[in-house]
Amino acid sequence: MSEILIAYSTTDGHTREICQRLRQGLEQLGHRVTLLSIDDEPDVGLDRYDKIVVGASIRYGKHSKQVYRFIEKNLKVLERKPNAFFSVNVVARKPEKSTPETNPYLRKFLQQIQWHPQELAVFAGKVDYPRYRFWDRQMIRMIMWMTKGPTDPGAVYEFTDWQQVEAFGHLVGGMESGNETR
Ligand SMILES: Cc1cc2nc3c(=O)[nH]c(=O)nc-3n(C[C@H](O)[C@H](O)[C@H](O)COP(=O)(O)O)c2cc1C
Repeated sequence: MSEILIAYSTTDGHTREICQRLRQGLEQLGHRVTLLSIDDEPDVGLDRYDKIVVGASIRYGKHSKQVYRFIEKNLKVLERKPNAFFSVNVVARKPEKSTPETNPYLRKFLQQIQWHPQELAVFAGKVDYPRYRFWDRQMIRMIMWMTKGPTDPGAVYEFTDWQQVEAFGHLVGGMESGNETR
């Protein structure tokens, strides 16, 4: 049994939903899981956790500034423990951009940070057109149109493969604490 922290950054709540699904799976495996919003509580200490997962969504091509800050601030503790990162974006709905090796946002992000996560995942997100403000809706429709995705402004599209999320949970549950130096 390990104490697992899942720290996340979300704008519209879908990354939190993915985290909740991860928590459910990990708890069934007997682990204790804490969810932490990086946006609301960026300064929580991470020492007491055995394994750490960070998850964040893409908005206008980027993960939030808070995510960069959180990683920079906690770099040492992250690298001392079994750790993982996942990104949520809609480009990942395309099979050829759906893996850590092929998703352009994740590739770029990894070049920008000092952390080398032990495990990585990319999950396709959700587009909830009715929920967005006018300009956000227009912009995301344009992004979707450019990438040959659905553009009906009255519809909600969830692209997440929940089995993939579940499989990632199993991977996280099985991460070894071999290089722990505490
Ligand atoms: C205003 C806006 C901009 C977005 N920009 C991008 C983008 O540049 N690339 C992309 O792949 N997905 C983009 N998305 C899709 C989000 O990554 C997707 O909706 C995700 O599920 C959001 O997760 P969250 O609810 O945790 O923030 C955008 C979504 C919105 C609403």
